[in-house]
Amino acid sequence: MYLKTLFYSTALLAVAQTANAWSPTNSYAPATVDCAEDLNIIRAADGLSEAESNWVAKRDAVTQDALKKFLTRATSNFSDKSILDSLFAESSNVPRVAIAASGGGYRATFGDAGMVAAMDDRTDGANEHGLGGLLQGTTYLAAISGGSWFTSTVVFNNWTSVQDIINQMGDGDGSIWDIEQSALTPGGSDTAFTNQRFENISSAIGEKSSAGFPTSLADVWGLAFSYYFFPSLPEGGVGYTWSTIQETDVFTNAEMPYLIQLGKAQLPGTVAVDFNSPTIEVTPYDFGSWESSIKSFADIKYLGTEVSNGSPVTPGKCVEGYDNVNFMIGTCTNLIEYVEQANSAYYNAIIDQLATLFLGNSSTSADRTLAIYSPNPFKDTTNYDSGADTTFVTDDTLRLVDGGIDGQVIPFIPVMKKEREVDVVFALDQTADTPDLFPNGDSVQYTYERQFTEAGKYDAFPYVPGIDSFVELGLNKKPVFFGCDASNLTDLAYVPPLMVYLPNVAHSFASNISTLQLSFTAEERLSLIRNGFESATRGNFTEDPDFLGCVGCAVMRRKQEKLGLDWPEECQQCFTNYCWDGSITAEDKNTTSLSSVVGNGTTTTTTTDAPDYTTLLTTIDSGDMSTIHFETSTTITCHECEENDVQPTATFTTTTEDCDSNTLATTTVECEECEENANNQHKYTTISSMTTTTEYCEECEEARETSVVSTVNTAGAAEYSNSPSNNEFTTQSGEGSSNASKISANPSEQSVSTYAQVSSVTIPKLAQASSGSGSQSGSSAYSVLVNENMANKMTTGSIVGAVLLVGSLLSLL
Ligand SMILES: *[C@@H]1O[C@H](CO)[C@@H](O)[C@H](O)[C@H]1NC(C)=O
Ligand SMILES: *[C@@H]1O[C@H](CO)[C@@H](O)[C@H](O)[C@H]1NC(C)=O
Ligand SMILES: *[C@@H]1O[C@H](CO)[C@@H](O)[C@H](O)[C@H]1NC(C)=O
Ligand SMILES: *[C@@H]1O[C@H](CO)[C@@H](O)[C@H](O)[C@H]1NC(C)=O
Ligand SMILES: *[C@@H]1O[C@H](CO)[C@@H](O)[C@H](O)[C@H]1NC(C)=O
Ligand SMILES: *[C@@H]1O[C@H](CO)[C@@H](O)[C@H](O)[C@H]1NC(C)=O
Ligand SMILES: *[C@@H]1O[C@H](CO)[C@@H](O)[C@H](O)[C@H]1NC(C)=O
Ligand SMILES: *[C@@H]1O[C@H](CO)[C@@H](O)[C@H](O)[C@H]1NC(C)=O
Ligand SMILES: *[C@@H]1O[C@H](CO)[C@@H](O)[C@H](O)[C@H]1NC(C)=O
Ligand SMILES: *[C@@H]1O[C@H](CO)[C@@H](O)[C@H](O)[C@H]1NC(C)=O
Repeated sequence: MYLKTLFYSTALLAVAQTANAWSPTNSYAPATVDCAEDLNIIRAADGLSEAESNWVAKRDAVTQDALKKFLTRATSNFSDKSILDSLFAESSNVPRVAIAASGGGYRATFGDAGMVAAMDDRTDGANEHGLGGLLQGTTYLAAISGGSWFTSTVVFNNWTSVQDIINQMGDGDGSIWDIEQSALTPGGSDTAFTNQRFENISSAIGEKSSAGFPTSLADVWGLAFSYYFFPSLPEGGVGYTWSTIQETDVFTNAEMPYLIQLGKAQLPGTVAVDFNSPTIEVTPYDFGSWESSIKSFADIKYLGTEVSNGSPVTPGKCVEGYDNVNFMIGTCTNLIEYVEQANSAYYNAIIDQLATLFLGNSSTSADRTLAIYSPNPFKDTTNYDSGADTTFVTDDTLRLVDGGIDGQVIPFIPVMKKEREVDVVFALDQTADTPDLFPNGDSVQYTYERQFTEAGKYDAFPYVPGIDSFVELGLNKKPVFFGCDASNLTDLAYVPPLMVYLPNVAHSFASNISTLQLSFTAEERLSLIRNGFESATRGNFTEDPDFLGCVGCAVMRRKQEKLGLDWPEECQQCFTNYCWDGSITAEDKNTTSLSSVVGNGTTTTTTTDAPDYTTLLTTIDSGDMSTIHFETSTTITCHECEENDVQPTATFTTTTEDCDSNTLATTTVECEECEENANNQHKYTTISSMTTTTEYCEECEEARETSVVSTVNTAGAAEYSNSPSNNEFTTQSGEGSSNASKISANPSEQSVSTYAQVSSVTIPKLAQASSGSGSQSGSSAYSVLVNENMANKMTTGSIVGAVLLVGSLLSLL
C-alpha cells in the first residue's frame, strides 16, 4: 500500500514538471495557443518527413551496435562468420528491421507483448533462450488495434519493458494491464466505482465538447481503456498528448523504435471500408496517408487547428492537445460502428444508452460511432491523385475507424513502404480465423492481394500461398520466412523486405482465446505473454536449437544479396527449413476440378429511395466441399431517369473458401443521382452469370459421398431470391434460372454427373449484388468478403447470431 501511494505521488509530480508537453489545459480539452504566423501543418506524402529521416539516422547508430551484438550471438555456431565483418564495415550495409504487431483484442495485446519480450534484451531469459537484443536493433514498430494497446502501453510509459510490467503484475491493484475487471464494468460488483469512473469519462468528454470539438463514442472507448494502460497518470492520462513522445528522453536518444499505428478513413454516410479507404498512419510526428485520396501528412501536434491547405485560418493561432493519447488509441481500435451494423436490437440498445449517457443531446448524430477529426486537417489540400474521391479534402470532418477493418490485421503497409528501406519485417500474427481461433494467414493474403489493386499499386509484398495451402502446409503452425530470394520478386513494384511470419501457436498455454474476452486475471495475462515468447522462439529453441541462427540469416539476407556476400552454409540449411518455397499442398495439386454454370438470369428491381439497395442473387454454402472458386459476372444497369443514357457496369468477382464455410460474392455498382427522379423510385436491371469451380481434396472424399447420396433428387440451383417480406423491393425473377448444366471437366463422365448433382444442391444461394449511391466502386473481392460475411451473419437475426457477429467484428481488433 505504501509503495503504491508513493508511486502515484511520484507520477503526479512528474506531470507537474512536464506540463508543457501535455495538453495546454492539462485535461482532455484541446486549447488555442500561439504559433508561427507562417506555419503550415501539411506536407505532401512524397517521402518521409525530415523529422522522421533525421530521427531514423540517429536510430541507425543505435541499432547498428545492437544488431552487431545480436547477430554475433546468433551466428556463434557458424563455421564462417566473415559476413558480419562486411555487414558492419559500413553503416549503410547494416540491415534495417521492423516489427508488425497484429490486432486481435487482448489476445493480441498479450501475444504481441510476449513475442516482443522474446526480442527484448531486458526480458529474463531472452538473451539465453530467446531473440534478446533484436528489439534493440529494430527501427520501426507498427501495430494495429489490439496490438496498438500493447505498443501504446510500452511507448507512452517511457518505453517500459514487458518484463517491468510482468514484475508488478497483479489483480485489483491498479498495476498496468490490471484488467481483472473489464473496461465496460470497471468496478465489477462495486457499482459506485463504476459510476465514478464513468462520471470521470463523461466530464472529460464534456470538457472537449465545451471547447467546441465534436465528440463521439470513440472518445469514450479510448478514455475507458486507457485507465488500464496508464494507471500511474491522473485519470489514465486524460491530458496526455501523443506528440509528448517527441520530447521524452527515450525518443530523443533513439532508444526505442519508431512507433506507427494505423486507422482507416471512411467516407461520410457509408459503412464500407476497403482497400480504397485511405490507411492513416499515426506516428510520433505525422498523421496522414500515402494513399491516393489524401496523399498528405499533418503535423500531429497541431491536429484540431482549423486550416485551409495546411495554413491556420487565423494566422498565428493553433490548437494543441487534440492529439490526446487516449483519443488516438480509441481511434485506432474503433470498431463501434461495426458492432452497430450488426443491426441487433440488443447491441443497438446498448450503443444508444452509451451515447445518451456520454454524448447527451448529440447522441443521435450519424457520426456518433466514428472517431471524429473536426476540423479536418486535410481540408483544401491538393496533393491527392487526380481522379480520386475528393471528399476527404473537401469535407469539414474526417472520420476514422480501426485500422484492421479492411481485413489487413497485420500492419504491413507502413513497414513495407519503399521509402522506409526496411530489410526484414517480423510479422506477429495473433488473429483467430481458423475454427479453433488460431491464425490462418488471411491477413497476410489481404495485403498480398492489395498490391494488385489500384490502391496498392505503389507497394510491394512478397508472394504467399492461398489460405488453403497456408493451413494445409502448416504455415500457421510455426515460423515461416516469405520472400527469401530477392531474385524471385522482381515482378513486384520493388523488392519488398523479407517477412518472418510468427503465428500464435499454443505452447505452454491455450492461447486461442476469444477476442470477445475483455477481462483477464494476472495468471492468464502472464500465461499469454509467456506463450507469445515461446511462439516467437520455437519453444525457447527446444523445437529447433538452430532457430536463433536462422533468424539471424533472415535479418542479414537482403543486405547479403545486395552486396553479393557469401551466404553461410548454415543459412542455406535454415532457408531450406524455414522459407516458403512457392509450393502449394499436394492435396491442392491432386484435386478433381470441375466447373459448372449454376445460374444465369435477369432481374428487374424497383426500390424506394433507400440509401442502399440490396438483392440476394445466390448463396453458396460450401458445406462439404474443400475449395470453391466462385466467379460472378454481373451487369447492373441503372435506369434512374427515363432519358438517362446509362452505361452498364460489369464486375467480376472470384472468391475461394474452405470447407464448412459460406462463400459469397458481392458486386457493388454506383448508379448516378437523378434530379427528375419521380417518387424516389429507382429501377435496376441485373443480369448475371455465375460459375463455380469446386476442387475436392482427398480428405473431403467422404463428405462428398455423403452429400451426393443425400441430394440426388434435388434440382434447380441458383434461384434468384430476395426477401418477400421486405416491402421496399419488388422483384421479378426473369427467365434463365436454370438447372446445373454445362459441365466442363476432364475426369470420367460418372464423376462429372455425380458432381453436377452435388453442385446443384450444395451450391444454392448467395451472391449479393448491392447498389447504392454512397457505396464505393472498385471494391476488391477481399473487402467484399468482410462485408458479406457480416451480411450473411446478420440474416441469422437472433441474439446468438448477433453475439457471433460481434465476435467476428471484434476479431478484427
Ligand atoms: C521460455 O522462456 C520464458 C522467458 O524466459 C519463460 O518464461 C518460459 O517459462 C520458458 N518456457 C519454457 C517451456 O521453458
Ligand atoms: C516518463 O519519464 C519522464 C521523465 O522521467 C516523466 O516526467 C514522465 O512522467 C514519465 N511518463 C510516464 C507515463 O511514466
Ligand atoms: C475519477 O477522477 C478522480 C479525480 O481525478 C480520481 O481521483 C478518481 O480516482 C477517479 N475515479 C475513478 C474510478 O477512476
Ligand atoms: C444540447 O444541449 C445544450 C445544453 O443543454 C444546448 O445548449 C444545446 O442547444 C443542445 N443542442 C441541441 C442540438 O439540441
Ligand atoms: C483451442 O484450441 C484447441 C485445440 O485445437 C481446441 O480444442 C479448443 O476448442 C480451442 N478453443 C477455442 C476457444 O476455440
Ligand atoms: C549451437 O549449437 C548447439 C548444439 O547444437 C546448440 O545447443 C546451441 O543452441 C547453438 N547455439 C546457437 C546460437 O545456435
Ligand atoms: C525462387 O525461384 C526459383 C526458380 O523459379 C525456385 O526454384 C525457388 O524455389 C524460388 N525460391 C523461393 C524462395 O520462392
Ligand atoms: C491423385 O490421387 C489419386 C487417387 O487418390 C491417385 O491414384 C493418384 O496417384 C494421385 N496422383 C498424384 C499425382 O499424386
Ligand atoms: C449465361 O449467360 C451467358 C451470357 O449471356 C451465356 O453465354 C451463357 O450461355 C448462359 N448460360 C446458361 C447456362 O444459360
Ligand atoms: C431442369 O431439368 C429438368 C430435367 O432435366 C428439365 O425438365 C427442366 O426443364 C430443367 N429446368 C430448367 C429451368 O432448365
